[in-house]
Amino acid sequence: MIVIKTQEEIEKMRKAGSLAAQVLDYIGPFIKAGVSTLTINDLCAEFTQKHGAISAPLNYHGFPKSICTSINEVVCHGIPVEKDILKDGDIVNIDITVILDGYHGDTSRTFMIGNVDEDVKNLVSRTQNALDRGIAAIHPGKYLYEVGKAIEKYISKFDYSIVRAYGGHGIGKTFHEDPHVLHHFSKENRIRLQEGMIFTVEPMINMGKSYEVETSATDGWTVTTVDGSLSAQFEHTILVTSEGAEILTKA
Ligand code: MF3
Ligand code: CO
Ligand code: CO
Repeated sequence: MIVIKTQEEIEKMRKAGSLAAQVLDYIGPFIKAGVSTLTINDLCAEFTQKHGAISAPLNYHGFPKSICTSINEVVCHGIPVEKDILKDGDIVNIDITVILDGYHGDTSRTFMIGNVDEDVKNLVSRTQNALDRGIAAIHPGKYLYEVGKAIEKYISKFDYSIVRAYGGHGIGKTFHEDPHVLHHFSKENRIRLQEGMIFTVEPMINMGKSYEVETSATDGWTVTTVDGSLSAQFEHTILVTSEGAEILTKA
């Protein structure tokens, strides 16, 4: 069941979304070679708390930290740890979800550390473009599958693959709710978009030809590409409006 948000809820989602974006803006300058993902976690957690909000990932189905940090071939759900030190040439996705006044804001960006190879820079910028294309396809009365269709149309120009095992999601009072948003074209998403729906779009793009991913047997969370290729991701929380889409997590 997809929850249509009321005007009051939309206002709260705007505030939560804006705070999540502020966390990413704040942490940006700290993301450089020599910094551990645990330090990034701690700074984000402190900033979130200072702004009267809660870090949603902490204890979510047992997740042990406040944010997700996914380096290089890690697709998503990377756990911040002291021993993971960012180094020159790495890419890292920082995924922030805050709960403010009972409502969630969810956004992520992939950051580049120092000198990144040209082909990796392309992966990152094209993943950002893929998110933008997906968002541009959102319009009330259209089908949700237009999002995945637009992303797939764009990404198919490159020798990349679109992760299928994880998707975007409805969001509001709960972290993950209906609908499940696919980033490739599928009739499964033949759902009419309606004003007041709020969901994330968060394509994960692998540099290799395989979209296959696997979850770490050791920690039960870290998702990596099976072929070891790099993976990038960008995420926004979106409101369907009469005009199209409003990005609630704009920088
Ligand atoms: N923020 C992630 C998403 O975009 C979910 C992280 S769940 C966690 O949906 F438990 F790993 F934090
Ligand atoms: Co997220
Ligand atoms: Co999300």
